[in-house]
Amino acid sequence: MDAVPGQAAIRAAAVLLEAGKLVAFPTETVYGLGADAENPQAVAAIYAAKGRPQDHPVIVHIAPGADIGYWCSDIPAEAYKLAEAFWPGPLTMILKRNAHIPDAVSGGQDTVGMRCPSHPVAIALLSAFKGGKGGVAAPSANKFGNVSPTTAQHVRDEFGAMVLDEAEAAEAAAHAYAAAITARMADPAEAETGAAGAGSAQAAAALRLAVLDGGSSQVGIESTILDLSRLATHGPVLLRPGHIGAQDIADVIGAMPNLPDQTAPRASGTLESHYAPKAPVALCDGAALADTLARLAAKGRKAAVIHYSALPQAKAGAHQHMPSDAAGYAFGLYAALRAMDQTGAELILVETPPQHDAWLGVNDRLRRAAFGSSGIVETFLQS
Ligand code: TXA
Ligand code: MG
Repeated sequence: MDAVPGQAAIRAAAVLLEAGKLVAFPTETVYGLGADAENPQAVAAIYAAKGRPQDHPVIVHIAPGADIGYWCSDIPAEAYKLAEAFWPGPLTMILKRNAHIPDAVSGGQDTVGMRCPSHPVAIALLSAFKGGKGGVAAPSANKFGNVSPTTAQHVRDEFGAMVLDEAEAAEAAAHAYAAAITARMADPAEAETGAAGAGSAQAAAALRLAVLDGGSSQVGIESTILDLSRLATHGPVLLRPGHIGAQDIADVIGAMPNLPDQTAPRASGTLESHYAPKAPVALCDGAALADTLARLAAKGRKAAVIHYSALPQAKAGAHQHMPSDAAGYAFGLYAALRAMDQTGAELILVETPPQHDAWLGVNDRLRRAAFGSSGIVETFLQS
């Protein structure tokens, strides 16, 4: 059964965000670590909590129906068509940013990533936050370079003692609410910025976060990212493949997105080594899987296996049998990587998934998870 936070929990989370605090929340792709996108100190706290480099831009999440014109300028007609077709949903669009967006959000670039998520808890939170007119800056709620979280428990596993328990979160929200009221009575004109400023200083100092539990993220891998900021010169560019595919996009805007070239903007999710568990990950063709496992076992090596074909031998050790459709596989991928990592395996062997288009997002994440581990199986077999 998926958890459903009530109105009070949603309201408390919105108050915390308004006060400059960090709130991890579910989206349909992965859990995000959110902060008020218009509060530079709150956004800085995200970077500090994640241990993420300061120059990596974060996506701004908005409620359904919110005005992207508030955040972006020179918005092409394609962006409105795509928003109409896929929002709320797992598509992020990179657009020219407006001046009031803090540099911390855009990583100093002249663009901003915009996304309207479809998870009901994300929608409720974004609709409550600043009366539905705000934006929540949120990267995935994991430490930098780690596997993205697809459950609230994954977020707790990532951030440990930094996570506020239910009573602490309620107390922090009550405190933030009282502070906002006091500020409003003292100086109504400055109430908004005053309360936010005070809260964000505390957030940065204490680095705690609240977690809204909305069950498992249904898509399971991060949103598709499409760069529309240089349409005239570069066309639409697919910066990160995801559940919404290139053909889905082409069907709406009449043009197939290009793949990024050397001039494409930096994106942390596009670093080669990303989404990596602690144990090295190696891809292995299905045909060679049983034999490779047997040889590793003969060498006394502890390997865990993620497979989608029938593999009776896998039952002897730690293994995860995945669905054989791309959507089902993506849904379970990050949980499987985490679970196999927790078995204490020295190596996670992953059966190479099918290579057709529907699997682009899954193969992209697996390739990155396996980056830097090439030759690891041979090394283990020789030693
Ligand atoms: O599904 C998702 O997109 C999740 C959920 C929480 O919404 N978020 C997510 O955020 O994956 P993050 O920060 O882990 O990955 C966002 C990616 C990064 O690679 C970042 O560099 C890129 O989006 N990005 C954000 N703004 C950008 C911009 N203005 N230009 C280019 N890339 C940008
Ligand atoms: Mg991430």
